[in-house]
Amino acid sequence: MKKKVVSVILAMTMVASMAMGCGSGSDTTTSDNSTTTTTNDAAASTEASDAADATADAANGDLADKKVGVCIYQFADNFMTLYRTDLEGYLKDMGYSVTIMDGKNDQNTQTEQINTFLQQGVDVLVINPVQTTSAQTITDMVVEAGIPLVYINREPDASEEQRWADNNWDVTYVGCDARQSGTYQGEMIADLGLDTVDMNGKIDYIMIEGDPENVDAQYRTEYSIKALEDAGLEVNCLDDQVGMWDQATAQQLVANSLSQNGNDIEVVFCNNDAMALGALQAIESAGRTVGEDIYLVGVDALSEALEDVLAGTMTGTVFNDHFSQSHSAADAAINYLSGAGNEHYIGCDYVKVTKDNAQEILDMVK
Ligand code: BGC
Repeated sequence: MKKKVVSVILAMTMVASMAMGCGSGSDTTTSDNSTTTTTNDAAASTEASDAADATADAANGDLADKKVGVCIYQFADNFMTLYRTDLEGYLKDMGYSVTIMDGKNDQNTQTEQINTFLQQGVDVLVINPVQTTSAQTITDMVVEAGIPLVYINREPDASEEQRWADNNWDVTYVGCDARQSGTYQGEMIADLGLDTVDMNGKIDYIMIEGDPENVDAQYRTEYSIKALEDAGLEVNCLDDQVGMWDQATAQQLVANSLSQNGNDIEVVFCNNDAMALGALQAIESAGRTVGEDIYLVGVDALSEALEDVLAGTMTGTVFNDHFSQSHSAADAAINYLSGAGNEHYIGCDYVKVTKDNAQEILDMVK
């Protein structure tokens, strides 16, 4: 018991020492990944029909004996659990043999799992890397083994993606542009209007970030605030902490921040819903009321968060479409198996979620 308490304190200290500090989020944004690939319409429609053919082949049993290896950065992640479940179901329904490994948030563990997959013989790999900075090493291992690779959810940097194109490797990334999700978060707050949110002429906010190594965390931190500024609002960062995508960590961080900054905090931005749910617990314990004297936004559209948006206990969230991402990732894997190939970047759109459309999204995700 004592040991557990010590390790929790240690973990909290580590997280606290990684805190970004207000305004430093944008410093970590090193590359503009949107420029790396574009899809021309003709190629896109050829790919779409190739994908349909591949799916038909799979259904006919031509490809269904193929083995798909999947590496997830960590099973204990709410969003990646939804994603993983969809991915597995979609591939299994088409008759593929799917093996999914839990990287346990440790790159060495995941690298060993990739090695094991390569030794045992898989036909294609789908990888959600623990550390995107390890992408180059992972790509080299997998390409060397002659196996096609689909990265998901954690986007490698622009120079890594450029290597895939330059070398014409069977490697792609499937995911949404995190700048859009950050922008939507900021817009939802801006749309409330300064008179509603503000007490002193500027928006006083705190930011709870996901893993700072991750481009989703970097861009959501930067673009949520940029959207407020673009709407002509003055902003003031009271606190910026790293919650590592985790509910319990965020709850603790927001509780600390509320006790330090008191009623000055007007908006709590969380890079994902798991952390927003933790933030809400802290907000309620501090006797504050979302929608009245404080505003709270997340990303993902977890069903619990959608219920909160409907109840008014969360201001809004952004739907991180795990159905379309997991299906695109599976289709990309199948395209490699069938020889149809893929572009090196396969995108998708986020959806802004407020009380107006939360029920619609909830019906879809439930
Ligand atoms: C999701 C987070 C998740 C992270 C994992 C993000 O896109 O919004 O909830 O923890 O991916 O990499």
